[in-house]
Amino acid sequence: MRIAVVGGGPGGLYFAALTKQLAPRSEITVWERNAADDTFGFGVVFSDETLGGIEHADAQIYRAMEREFARWDDIDVHVKGQTITSGGHGFAALSRRRLLQILQQRCSELGVRLHFQTEAPDARALAASHDLVVAADGANSATRAAWATSFRPDVDVRRCRYMWLGTDLVFDAFKFYIEQTPYGVMQIHGYPYDATGSTFIVEMHDAVWQAAGFSAPDLPPGRSDEASIARIRELFSGVLDGRTVHANNSRWISFGTLRCESWRHGNVILLGDAAHTAHFSIGSGTKLAMEDALALAACLHEQPGLDTALAAYEAERRPVVASTQRAAQASLEWFENLGQYTGQEPEQFAFNIMTRSRRVTHGNLRVRDPEFAERIDAWFAGHEKRRGFGAGDAVPPMFQPFRLRDLELKNRVAVSAMDMYSAADGTPSDFHLVHLGGKALGGAALVMTEMVCVSPEGRITPGCAGMYAPEHEAAWQRITGFVHDRSTAKIGLQLGHSGRKGSTRLMWEGIDEPLPEGNWEVCAPSPVPYGGNQVPRALSTDEMAEIRRQFVEATRAAERCGFDLIELHCAHGYLLSSFISPVTNQRDDRYGGSLAGRLRYPLEVFAAMRAAWPAHKPMTVRISATDWYPGGITGEDAVEIARAFQAAGADAIDVSTGQVTPDETPAFGRSYQTPFADAIRNRLGIATIAVGVISSYDDVNSIILAGRADLCALGRAHLYDPNWTLHAAAEQGYDGPAATWPDPWRAGSRPPQTGRTDGPRPRLQLIREGEPGTRHARWRPA
Ligand SMILES: Cc1cc2nc3c(=O)[nH]c(=O)nc-3n(C[C@H](O)[C@H](O)[C@H](O)COP(=O)(O)OP(=O)(O)OC[C@H]3O[C@@H](n4cnc5c(N)ncnc54)[C@H](O)[C@@H]3O)c2cc1C
Ligand SMILES: Cc1cc2nc3c(=O)[nH]c(=O)nc-3n(C[C@H](O)[C@H](O)[C@H](O)COP(=O)(O)O)c2cc1C
Repeated sequence: MRIAVVGGGPGGLYFAALTKQLAPRSEITVWERNAADDTFGFGVVFSDETLGGIEHADAQIYRAMEREFARWDDIDVHVKGQTITSGGHGFAALSRRRLLQILQQRCSELGVRLHFQTEAPDARALAASHDLVVAADGANSATRAAWATSFRPDVDVRRCRYMWLGTDLVFDAFKFYIEQTPYGVMQIHGYPYDATGSTFIVEMHDAVWQAAGFSAPDLPPGRSDEASIARIRELFSGVLDGRTVHANNSRWISFGTLRCESWRHGNVILLGDAAHTAHFSIGSGTKLAMEDALALAACLHEQPGLDTALAAYEAERRPVVASTQRAAQASLEWFENLGQYTGQEPEQFAFNIMTRSRRVTHGNLRVRDPEFAERIDAWFAGHEKRRGFGAGDAVPPMFQPFRLRDLELKNRVAVSAMDMYSAADGTPSDFHLVHLGGKALGGAALVMTEMVCVSPEGRITPGCAGMYAPEHEAAWQRITGFVHDRSTAKIGLQLGHSGRKGSTRLMWEGIDEPLPEGNWEVCAPSPVPYGGNQVPRALSTDEMAEIRRQFVEATRAAERCGFDLIELHCAHGYLLSSFISPVTNQRDDRYGGSLAGRLRYPLEVFAAMRAAWPAHKPMTVRISATDWYPGGITGEDAVEIARAFQAAGADAIDVSTGQVTPDETPAFGRSYQTPFADAIRNRLGIATIAVGVISSYDDVNSIILAGRADLCALGRAHLYDPNWTLHAAAEQGYDGPAATWPDPWRAGSRPPQTGRTDGPRPRLQLIREGEPGTRHARWRPA
């Protein structure tokens, strides 16, 4: 096989070395435009997990790398004059130059042809003259550009600027320096790569970069931005402690996350940065490139033909890359929004930065460094007590109490509003009593009703519950009575109006589809239908006043029923949400147009309800923080929407997303809506409720402790396990007041035994004094 490798970076070289070993008779040529020892960048980091793969693939390369490794366990966060250390992370790094030398040497030994300082021949000519062309030519791959219509690349260029530098200061840990400068907050990502120096990456938001006057004229290739580097030396002189920073073709870059729809075109395959990039803050680009190389070499070896090998490589690598890119994206966005966390105290900030990709959790950190986890839990306990509601004991963060106005919540878990479609003419049934009563017994602090509708036409389906008739009140009273008499949970009522999504079928008969018969006329701000539902009637201002009155009546009824909290449903494309979104509100009166205009009616409804609701009881608002649709509501708008409700007296924002238009493209994933709650909370200082694919207690602890939200609402997890919170307490060994088992259930308050493996183990081995490897041998004094 004749193989052409374009690019002698870590990906191309590692692929060449591995393939030559698996197929010694293949002819492999690598073209690299730089000199053998001429590289950008300083050090690259690997986690222990990646190194495992590299060790098994080629022990010789691994051993050579291992001899060079700078290894460390700690991450130090330097913020507001404090250094907070978290240990147990297990990193290794070496200089990029040494890594390339090792790979080059191995390629030479194995008989790979290496051409340095040589531009690769034209990609089409290579494809014609070789069996396989491996495009390992980096993020700006010309090979990818040659067949852009096949690879269909997309680059998402972000809002931070960074420069990759080195320093002769040898750090003893991975370092984050968070520096407040006169221009805004800047950060350093620093890590040692050998006994002589460290990588020193300076990064900041574009606005800070502009304010600091860093913009410089375009530089010729190969030149570093000396003026900026001199300023960096000055700005970070405190960090550098008399040491210097040095450049290596260093200049300001805006990170672009590259994704390609395909990695294959005939016999040309993309590998490493040519196929995908992931923000450097999770240190994974070289790792991904080397893992790609390993997978491609293996697939070529294992598969019967070239086509199947390339298909197998892409199928194997795509999910792994996508998953790393998701984590890198979360980390990238966290740094982009760094400014919103500068108000956090150092302990919370440190926990927040450590868990920024949402991959590392409270539980992981507890295993890696129990002391760090205890310190942060204790800080949180003290902090919440100082805020006036914490228990003061260092318990799992989710079991710290919380307060909204006079409402005391025993922990941080809420049962999210979930429509049961089981009411008759709006009257909640025994199903609601069992469902909501059961959830209240299951340990959550707050149980939310489904969206309860303010009129018959305001229902989504004929099975939706209402609060517009005396029999509704009586039925709700029975439910709130049960919750208050038999549990320590509180119960909140979510009030809403279906708008253009009304007159549709029960969830299990066809969600959002019109009723087969008995439809009622639906209404909305503008005549824009939802999917296949009927075209709604645009509401007149008189009709809007009538609906506002219905909301107020329902609020008064909620108070008579004894609800502890009410939530105004302004999300998911229902009536009030459809006023807020520009996708659905096309009015040209004062209730349309700008965001302020579109918010006017929902705010009027909120204000009227707030006036009717007792001052000591809290009100929350559920919003869709993005429409996931071009031209729709964005995360930035969501902050403004929340600000408006905050000013109107909302106590917390319940932050959901989407469902405004069926054409949405949501980025689903674990806790995927939490960043919106995080931005609102940290930018406005209002309490938030995070919701959406939060399923584990570890995620709840992490969200609360990092200050991303004050409460977590769990929906489907509570359908799966109505006793979710009680079980979370048992699993964490917590038996305090924030998770009390109902007396009749106490006998079941410990996890049931699962089988023989739980039992005590008999001794199966005799250990003789002094035997090597035995405990006795190791304990003998030296
Ligand atoms: C600031 C920063 C910090 C980073 N830190 C880390 C880290 O700590 N850990 C980590 O794992 N990754 C890190 N990375 C990412 C890492 O550098 C890349 O992901 C990795 O180098 C990708 O390897 P590659 O072989 O795919 O591409 P590259 O390393 O980009 O290699 C491509 C090569 O192709 C050559 N080339 C391109 N076109 C041609 C041509 N036409 N002819 C001949 N040669 C050509 C180029 O000269 C280059 O040498 C970081 C990246 C940045 C920007
Ligand atoms: C069966 C069901 C019914 C729902 N009904 C409502 C509702 O009435 N009001 C509302 O705001 N959200 C409703 N939702 C959305 C949930 O409150 C929650 O936001 C969503 O399920 C994401 O959280 P989860 O991943 O924890 O389930 C419903 C969700 C489900 C699964």
